Amino acid sequence: MVTVKLKEIGKNFGEVKIINGVNWEILKGELMVLVGPSGCGKTTLLKIILGVLDPDNGEIYFNQKLMNKVSISERNVGFVPQNFGLFPHLNVNENIGYGLKMRNIPKNKIEMLTNKFIGMLKLEGLGLRATNQLSWGQRQRVALARALAIEPSLLLLDEPLSAVDWASRKEITDEINRMQKRLRITTIYVTHDINEAFEIGDRIAVMHDGKIEQCDRAECLIKTPKSNFIAAYLKNRRVGK
Ligand SMILES: Nc1ncnc2c1ncn2[C@@H]1O[C@H](COP(=O)(O)OP(=O)(O)OP(=O)(O)O)[C@@H](O)[C@H]1O
Ligand SMILES: [Mg+2]
Repeated sequence: MVTVKLKEIGKNFGEVKIINGVNWEILKGELMVLVGPSGCGKTTLLKIILGVLDPDNGEIYFNQKLMNKVSISERNVGFVPQNFGLFPHLNVNENIGYGLKMRNIPKNKIEMLTNKFIGMLKLEGLGLRATNQLSWGQRQRVALARALAIEPSLLLLDEPLSAVDWASRKEITDEINRMQKRLRITTIYVTHDINEAFEIGDRIAVMHDGKIEQCDRAECLIKTPKSNFIAAYLKNRRVGK
């Protein structure tokens, strides 16, 4: 479990400033939701925290430790990418155990941990199945199991429900919520669905113009939106749920 702190993070793609001075703190064990319109830089920010993209400016801290120069594997971050990123040539068991194999964990321990997460995410009986023969909900759970199997200090979920049908959404958000509370992993959950954000987040960060414009508990966002943008963004929420 870590506290994540970003200080003045900036990132350009060519001439375009995508991330423009992000200051943000995610507390130990917190389920932080990151929302914002498509293209505002949510995935880019996750990739900077994960370590696959270097920021042009600013500092990333896990607890008090500066992480800018720390390699991806040493950051120990579990990542569920926007399209799940499952390996099509590997079966379910092999996908879940992939990160452990990369860390040279002994075979019997990989098997033990894989089975543990198969059970936890209700994937029993599917271990030998190719991932393209799974439903979207099952793929999502395999991606989550793979991210959790490395026992990450931080979990990044990039729109994990974007490909899931409405009927399965509630079930999966409940499962993510349960899992996150049980394992107490600091988590950043990206979505552009404000309703999902309100259902799942301990706090919600709203991204706009390359910055975190406001980061607050749901009720504070509603009561005291810091800008017209935030107030307008919140209007997309379904009320009465
Ligand atoms: N490698 C890249 N090179 C150039 N531009 C990029 C690159 N990656 C992302 N971008 C641009 O940066 C902006 C932010 O992209 P990003 O994927 O972070 O947005 P997002 O908030 O995750 O959007 P979405 O909700 O659609 O997933 C977009 O305009 C995108 O086109
Ligand atoms: Mg994205």
